[in-house]
Amino acid sequence: MVPGGVPAWHAGRVNPQLADSVFVRACRREPVPHTPVWYMRQAGRSLPEYRRAREGVEMLTACATPDLVVEITMQPVRRYGVDAAIFFSDIVVPLKAIGVDLDIKPGVGPVVATPIRDRAGAAVLRPLEPGDVPYVTESVEALLKELGGTPLIGFAGGPFTLASYLIEGGPSKNHDRTKAMMYGDPELWHELMDRLGAITLAFLRVQAEAGASAVQLFDSWVGAVAPQDYRTYVLPHTAKIFAGLADLGVPRIHFGVGTGELLGVMGEAGADVVGVDWRVPLDEAALRVGAGKALQGNLDPAVLLAPWEVVEERAREVLERGRVAEGHVFNLGHGVLPSTDPDQLARLTDLVHEASAR
Ligand code: CP3
Repeated sequence: MVPGGVPAWHAGRVNPQLADSVFVRACRREPVPHTPVWYMRQAGRSLPEYRRAREGVEMLTACATPDLVVEITMQPVRRYGVDAAIFFSDIVVPLKAIGVDLDIKPGVGPVVATPIRDRAGAAVLRPLEPGDVPYVTESVEALLKELGGTPLIGFAGGPFTLASYLIEGGPSKNHDRTKAMMYGDPELWHELMDRLGAITLAFLRVQAEAGASAVQLFDSWVGAVAPQDYRTYVLPHTAKIFAGLADLGVPRIHFGVGTGELLGVMGEAGADVVGVDWRVPLDEAALRVGAGKALQGNLDPAVLLAPWEVVEERAREVLERGRVAEGHVFNLGHGVLPSTDPDQLARLTDLVHEASAR
């Protein structure tokens, strides 16, 4: 430690201890003693201890309360012994922090008071400064002390997914208005995406500079876009985000749902790891993504609702197909479903560790 309690590897350098963790090594496509595993949405709605911790506390308040962020982030690490923690927050936190009037409605998701539909609306999206999210820096630093040897993954929403919430005003099935702007007013679209990209990059840098060992960009809804449109309307912005993280030296993970047809062009965006949903087997995904990438995924989260024997068989198949990839981080193909029995995830974690031991 140096004066002020800031670790010496702080400010853009990776903690050497955690850089050698099984999770980070797999992201870097280095040899590992076993396949590392963590689960998207591992902290949250499927855990009884989470529901107790959140009682009477609104989601965005919880995200801005370091004691709660630390407790909730730690819950799945304690319970499952996963190889990485994911920071407890939400993709709309940086938008709220720069003053966008939005809320998270229970059972619905993010809802925006004044959807962005024109230039004046886009101009509201000012750059994010680290001082806008002091609770994020504080939470990450507190977590590093709790986590010991377990690496922490920071995250942010991808620009398409954030644009969709802002333009539609809330969750959307077909992203109609979002695509209407994308096709109908490309200039405005790119301006909006530029602003969102800058906010996202700044938010990921805050987490990595505070000590997160890796970052994941969740462009959850980008699978709605065709490959040629991804190239024109999204890729320039995601590529800028990943390039803007390069100097930090932390692995960059890029994930979306329904992206089977996009895996090739997503592979060009500059991430170190591409997350794959459950629709494309990992050996096929490796071919689509191309050389020089690790893969993350991809057990269908709904498989966990079936009897253990089914989970085991499907998980072994994911591990087997994952061997084709240059590096493999075991995960689900999307987030843990709320009705998942935590005991299934505990068993799955042990199975992944045992069945992949080298
Ligand atoms: O669901 C829970 O675990 C409880 C806490 C919670 C989160 N987000 C945690 C979260 C709640 C209530 C939300 C609100 C929200 N935000 C929803 C859920 C609406 C509902 O009630 O079901 C949604 C869909 C959003 C928007 C959002 N947040 C997206 C699209 C993503 C990307 C991941 C994904 O699921 O596609 C997030 C990220 C997110 N939300 C994380 C957490 C802890 C981080 C990622 C992770 O833990 O893996």
